[in-house]
Amino acid sequence: VYAEDFGPFDGSIWLDCSHQGPLPRVAAAAVASAVQWKVAPFPLADPSLFERVPSALRSALARLMNASADEIVLANSASYGLSILARGIRWQAGDEVLLVENDFPASLYPWLPLREHGVAIRFVRPAGRVVQAAELEAALRPETRLFCATWVNSFVGEAVDASALGTLCRRNDTLFVLNASQGLGARPLDVRSTPVDAVTSCGFKYLCGPYGTGFCWISPSVRDRMRLVQGYWLANMTADDLKTEAVPVRLREDLGARAFDVFGTANFFNSVGWTASVDYLLAQGIERVAAYDQELVSRLIDGLVSIGCDVESPHTGEARTTIVVFPPPRSGDAGAFGRALQAVGIYAAVRRNRIRLSPHLFNTATEIDRALEAVEHIAASL
Ligand SMILES: Cc1ncc(COP(=O)(O)O)c(C=O)c1O
Repeated sequence: VYAEDFGPFDGSIWLDCSHQGPLPRVAAAAVASAVQWKVAPFPLADPSLFERVPSALRSALARLMNASADEIVLANSASYGLSILARGIRWQAGDEVLLVENDFPASLYPWLPLREHGVAIRFVRPAGRVVQAAELEAALRPETRLFCATWVNSFVGEAVDASALGTLCRRNDTLFVLNASQGLGARPLDVRSTPVDAVTSCGFKYLCGPYGTGFCWISPSVRDRMRLVQGYWLANMTADDLKTEAVPVRLREDLGARAFDVFGTANFFNSVGWTASVDYLLAQGIERVAAYDQELVSRLIDGLVSIGCDVESPHTGEARTTIVVFPPPRSGDAGAFGRALQAVGIYAAVRRNRIRLSPHLFNTATEIDRALEAVEHIAASL
């Protein structure tokens, strides 16, 4: 049972992984040991630690997506990677970025400053909850240089068909950027077999990392054509170089993805914890975790439907995710419903006047049943 590896939750039930995924115990222990490095900094005297910490994280993240470690940009959020792409791609006059109307704001904001540089920002409006391949096909133009979409939409709980969207982008010579923040850790993604040019994600949801974590995978062919947007001393030299008489100050050309890393790459409280979380998930197997999560989701949706809740997120199929969304029963106020759930120890999210429940491997079938009982009880008392 995965639940034994998390918590303790003291009887409360966390059904809000789409907001924050809890740290597995093994990661909490790793963070505690990293805290000790700073309480008594003797381990920090070893300069290789500043290399080992980021490189362990890079390897774990690469394994997650069948990528190579030197293709991983370490970040502090999902937004960081998008921002690097926005600043680093060599835009040409007349280029356009295509976005999805009503997409999660983190997938939209990083591109907006490009207007200042003459890049047009256009939106495709989905008729349903998320953009469909036919809608993208109709929206792509010769000048569409890049299309960015969220894989799993946190508001509506539906996944886009990344392969279909990416295939259309390839055909149009358009870069396809996928924000995988609400999917990675709960759905497998292979960057070698999916037609994506870049994948960005935060680390603190289904990857169960600390807050302030994230990364971006950029395909080497895209990365090699990007403009260098920063120069970070610790990427270009080592702490050992400081010991030499003539300290080198020269931009290296062989850095690959590391040239785009966030500064302070060895931030060990976060990195050590996140590496332990990702290693833990990899040891369980993402396919197995995904299957377990979907068992919980099936149970949750079946239960909600039988209580009479109008579950709006997909009930079946590939577009179904770990996010289950429904309006408060009897068109009530979702805020009040969410507070009533929390009063009995069930933590849901309220988004766009809907209740959102988002389980992951730390939850159990018993917890789902308890949440269903609470929903039924509160609905009956309205
Ligand atoms: C789709 C999506 N992207 C990104 C984020 C987080 O973004 P960031 O790590 O840039 O703060 C969230 C968090 O709710 C999200 O739902």
